[in-house]
Amino acid sequence: MPVPIDELVTRYKRGVPESLLPLLQEIQAEFGFLNEEAIVTVGLYLNLPASKIYGIATFFDQFRFVSQGRYHLRVCRGTACHMNGSASVLREVEKILKINEGQTTRDGHFSLEAVGCMGACSNGPVININGEFHNAVTSAGIAAIIDQFRKKA
Ligand code: FES
Repeated sequence: MPVPIDELVTRYKRGVPESLLPLLQEIQAEFGFLNEEAIVTVGLYLNLPASKIYGIATFFDQFRFVSQGRYHLRVCRGTACHMNGSASVLREVEKILKINEGQTTRDGHFSLEAVGCMGACSNGPVININGEFHNAVTSAGIAAIIDQFRKKA
């Protein structure tokens, strides 16, 4: 059971703007994303306008504003994977799931994120689904991988 946001903020000093990033990181670690309630609660607690918090949070790639799906797909867009065709893999995933990167499917089963190098360059293009790596993925082969997870979902 996640710690309620209004309780979580009390781990930080009220009205201290330097607490913003660690607090947002902690909320995201707890809930998986930052929703409107989190932004408003943090704003009131740290005495910062919500617009400023959004501005800062959107500057950092680490923050998400929609919930992750049950299966979170991370498609590597690092240089080596790009050279091996990761752009077409990403486009195919978007087409199959009918979402763009950064989004979650309506049924909540899948979310998609394009990320930088995941440290498996020689196996590229790589995708990672809930921590499980899939190597040398092709745009033709990605449908079968997604189908495996659809069956589990
Ligand atoms: S570039 Fe994709 S794993 Fe390194």
